[in-house]
Amino acid sequence: KPLFWGIDIGGTNIKIGLVDDAGKTLHFDHIPTQESEGPQSAVDRTAAFLAKIEQELGLSHEDVPVIGLGSPGSMDIPRGYLLDPPNLPHWWNFPIRDAFAKATGRPVAFINDANAAAYGEFWVGTGQRQDNMVLLTLGTGVGGGIVVADELVDGENSFGGECGHMIVDPSPTARLCVWGGGRGQLEAYASASAVVDRTRERLTAGGESSLSGLLGGSNSELSAKAVYLAAEDGDALALEIVDETAFWLGIGITTIIHMIDPGLVVLGGAMDFGGEASKVGQRFLDGIRKEFHARTFAHVAKGTKIGFASLGGDAGYLGAAGYARKAYRKRMQ
Ligand code: BGC
Ligand code: NA
Repeated sequence: KPLFWGIDIGGTNIKIGLVDDAGKTLHFDHIPTQESEGPQSAVDRTAAFLAKIEQELGLSHEDVPVIGLGSPGSMDIPRGYLLDPPNLPHWWNFPIRDAFAKATGRPVAFINDANAAAYGEFWVGTGQRQDNMVLLTLGTGVGGGIVVADELVDGENSFGGECGHMIVDPSPTARLCVWGGGRGQLEAYASASAVVDRTRERLTAGGESSLSGLLGGSNSELSAKAVYLAAEDGDALALEIVDETAFWLGIGITTIIHMIDPGLVVLGGAMDFGGEASKVGQRFLDGIRKEFHARTFAHVAKGTKIGFASLGGDAGYLGAAGYARKAYRKRMQ
């Protein structure tokens, strides 16, 4: 049976997995994105990496016939273009699908990063028994992937499931997204960078916290992880930030559920406030559920699960590989 490459482009790293027909990872690594060098350099370095591993494992192009590529949007899937992804400013208007196809000598199945992650969870993760589900990825941006009746929603403008761009605050003073056009969008409240920005503002305004010492540092010091660690130690300001993040996500998730009725909404991505195993992670989930329960119908509350995704940082490349497998099977029919 053929194997598939799954490539997941992120702001910091490109994750690369070689995945078999059953969703098992045979090889995994990541290389730095080096965003500011532009996309062609990343394409070339990725292709060189694939070639090296294929040579080591004695694999031909026929053994790995399709490459799955997940990337942040906005994008134009039919044309294979990156348009203006907010968190890849040097990569705008780039024909990324064909660049990858040319560099690897194979067809590329091109998909949004969060759609890929949702597909990964649906294929081999926490959504396996689900026909309808939604995944939100919380990282540098906020991504969304929607599966309805066993199919991903890509939409007419390759913008289907862009849950991070949902308006949660319509007021004229609402927070702005990094790309500037998105006032009041969920990403401006619930991404890792938004969490850091909100914490910074609170500290600058004189809020007392064990995090104050990090105020002079960069976002790698005053990070969402640092906020989580402070919250775990009971820092009141950090706990407030966690609770507010849960509030905004609760608002957004309620609207998603009222549109799609997915039965399962899972949170993925690196910003999980410690996730399932941590006190703060549980408090974060409870906060989201509380908001949802206060705003929905009793039977919808009862019939909808909200939790953490199960594949962690692997969901994106696994889903991209799964999507390549789907494209391959369609071609073979
Ligand atoms: C992009 C989405 C992406 C998300 C996570 C957002 O800024 O618009 O397409 O899924 O970030 O990377
Ligand atoms: Na998406």
